[in-house]
Amino acid sequence: MNITSAEFIKGIKGTDKILYDGKLQIAFVGRSNVGKSSLINSLVGRKSLARSSSQPGKTIRLDFFLINNQVYFVDLPGYGFAKMSQEKHEDIRKMMLWYLEYSDVKKRKVVLIVDINVGATEFDHQMVELLRAHHIEFIIVANKADKLTVQQREKQLDVIKASVDNASVILYSSKTDVGKSALLKTLFYL
Ligand code: GTP
Ligand code: MG
Repeated sequence: MNITSAEFIKGIKGTDKILYDGKLQIAFVGRSNVGKSSLINSLVGRKSLARSSSQPGKTIRLDFFLINNQVYFVDLPGYGFAKMSQEKHEDIRKMMLWYLEYSDVKKRKVVLIVDINVGATEFDHQMVELLRAHHIEFIIVANKADKLTVQQREKQLDVIKASVDNASVILYSSKTDVGKSALLKTLFYL
């Protein structure tokens, strides 16, 4: 599918009717700074639709973007920023769990983003477990592939795949758009 339109609808901090309007929600989840917002920008072909920054002081909210008038991309706050207070970590964790586990969303998918150089962290493993336990369809994106040589990429991809029990992993670079058509296909044809 080609993305022909993308618009920011709203940021939510708790329950909201947008959660229940029946449209598919594709949530972008991952540690702080892995490139969630950059990935959304890359997919929609817009440089700054989603806020891309590594500032830890942002408000904790879920940003909803309407894609082709039919699907939402949901930009989640990043988890695990080193300078973030314990309290803020806890707030983010709670919001993620609330969104992924308890809200009555009819159709959802998750894109779990990891840094290809770092691989799946403890947080990512917990997330995979949670997604499997709740039967939520997910795909793992190994982002920042542009930082590695082609040979290194393949090696890291194998390492990551093995560490998540052979879940699907797609190689990506939000900088060069490597992996874009593969990810769009997976998200919209699965
Ligand atoms: P939080 O919202 O703070 O959790 O961060 P995020 O996961 O949304 O990451 P963001 O998109 O803000 O990107 C973080 C930093 O990584 C920025 O400096 C981006 O330019 C950079 N970045 C993101 N994707 C890539 C990529 O594919 N390659 C390279 N080289 N840098 C990237
Ligand atoms: Mg972000």
